[in-house]
Amino acid sequence: MKVALVYGSTTGRTRAAARSIVAELGREVIHDVIDIGVVSPAALASYDLILVGASTWHIGELQHDWADADGALSRLDLRGTRVALFGLGDQKEYGETFLDAMGLLYDRLLERGAKGGYGFWSTEGYAFKGSRALRESRFCGLALDDDNQRDRTPDRIRAWCRQITAELGLAAPLRRAG
Ligand SMILES: Cc1cc2nc3c(=O)[nH]c(=O)nc-3n(C[C@H](O)[C@H](O)[C@H](O)COP(=O)(O)O)c2cc1C
Repeated sequence: MKVALVYGSTTGRTRAAARSIVAELGREVIHDVIDIGVVSPAALASYDLILVGASTWHIGELQHDWADADGALSRLDLRGTRVALFGLGDQKEYGETFLDAMGLLYDRLLERGAKGGYGFWSTEGYAFKGSRALRESRFCGLALDDDNQRDRTPDRIRAWCRQITAELGLAAPLRRAG
């Protein structure tokens, strides 16, 4: 199974989360780490599984590298590719559009034929008014808020990596609890 982690990041927070996820799962599991601001979206079609990281900007919009990639993304054939998402946002300042980009991207990827439903995440522990990343009362991926809950990010990433390892049948994470 060929696996990539793909992210877009403006101030580096999603990049840092991406690095933590790669460290947690190991390079035996994640073969390629792709900054969507640098690599053509066409590359995504060659993977069996992509982990997709996106922050939300400009009140409910895609981070700008993902926005630039969206035209090419909308022409991709992702049938046969499984996807799991993680998103970064700010539930306090942008509580009505918390993590919207994760939801927009999820819909785009599924529209192109990708298979989702992996890595969904409880809303427990977050306080926000609205989010386009909700699917039947859960987030459609890992929800991270380094603006307000940075101290919770490492545990959330660890738990999510364990969750997707089980859901997607990935090799066990190298670093184990305890
Ligand atoms: C101008 C501006 C608009 C933002 N809009 C949103 C938003 O609508 N929803 C949200 O959840 N976060 C929003 N954020 C917060 C960012 O998503 C958050 O800071 C994130 O960690 C940035 O990640 P990055 O540096 O990887 O791009 C916004 C931040 C700024 C500065």
